[in-house]
Amino acid sequence: MPGTGQLYQKIHDLFEQPFVFNAYQSVVDGGKGRQIQKFLRGLPYSSVVDIGCGTGNWSQVSDAAYLGIDTSASFIAGCKKRYADDPTKRFIQADAASLDTTERFDLGMLISVLHHLSDDQVERLLSWLQHTVRYFFVLDLYPIHRNPLSKWLYQMDRGSFIRQPHVQVELLTSRDRFRLVKQGDYFAPTGLYRHTLLLLESARYESNSIDAP
Ligand SMILES: C[S@@+](CC[C@H](N)C(=O)[O-])C[C@H]1O[C@@H](n2cnc3c(N)ncnc32)[C@H](O)[C@@H]1O
Repeated sequence: MPGTGQLYQKIHDLFEQPFVFNAYQSVVDGGKGRQIQKFLRGLPYSSVVDIGCGTGNWSQVSDAAYLGIDTSASFIAGCKKRYADDPTKRFIQADAASLDTTERFDLGMLISVLHHLSDDQVERLLSWLQHTVRYFFVLDLYPIHRNPLSKWLYQMDRGSFIRQPHVQVELLTSRDRFRLVKQGDYFAPTGLYRHTLLLLESARYESNSIDAP
């Protein structure tokens, strides 16, 4: 019988399969696409960089030109195959903490990835991002204390940096590189996951900044 470490690794490997990942997401943590579209409605953007893009699902949130970045070789290979006929969607395998492309984007997205990154990794991502995007959208989970099944699922999550909403905001607005434009939250329909929605704007644009859409 496999030990806890081996079992954890087997679950991890299983979730690297795009089909398994997508099925789990839509059953247990559904409604994300709808929430993202609702939250970003009215925001003017025509290019997006999606950091930790996973299986590329959020490339369909808008018609904007899209670059998806992820460390997972299997996810990136799956995305390239899935969107082979769409030249507006590109995908590269890279680490969020060591990005150095000089391309500019209207919007950066970090969806269910923040809790995979240490404070130090977030710091390195932000120092690149502040020169790369105008708007920065972050969606991430945060603890639900009273639900034991939810607690267990959070423990099984591969991300070890689950933060309370105010800690997420403090981290993302540290050093005044980004200012918070808008904040929201929602429960997944199963009640097992709860998410923050944060829209930030780079301080480089503060002089002609927008109001919350
Ligand atoms: C929970 S999944 C979310 C995927 C996608 N954003 C979504 O919402 O469907 C977390 C993703 O972050 C990626 N990831 C974790 N650490 C990363 C890092 N340091 N750089 C880039 N991607 C990372 C994982 O490979 C995985 O695809």
